[in-house]
Amino acid sequence: MKKEIYTEIILDLYKNPVNRGKLEGADVEAQGGNPTCGDNVYFTMKIGEGKIQDIKFLGSGCAISTAAESLLTEMAKGKSVKHAKKISDEQLLGELGGIIQTRMKCALLGLNVLKKGLEAYEKSGGKKTVVKGIII
Ligand code: FES
Repeated sequence: MKKEIYTEIILDLYKNPVNRGKLEGADVEAQGGNPTCGDNVYFTMKIGEGKIQDIKFLGSGCAISTAAESLLTEMAKGKSVKHAKKISDEQLLGELGGIIQTRMKCALLGLNVLKKGLEAYEKSGGKKTVVKGIII
């Protein structure tokens, strides 16, 4: 059976993305993008007791990257930083309902930026962290 480029969940989240916006006074800011297509994403997170208490995203991107980033914020919210860092490509792709090979980079853009931000936060020992210009 031919795989559709846009699953229902991608179309839904692209039209009505959840957790879109910016958190003021965020503990972690992570921004990055894919210079080839120009798509980019900017996550802001509030961390408390080692967990991602809240997370939002902004950015401009294709339907697949936007939907994946939105879904990712739902997957990461409430998780410990350690746990969120371990969200795998397969988990996210599974939640998205399958992505064709040529669009993998779109689907994983946000996850890679998020992980770099969380890694930098852990390295800082839990200090306010801003990472910008991550190239994916
Ligand atoms: Fe750039 Fe999809 S075309 S992330």
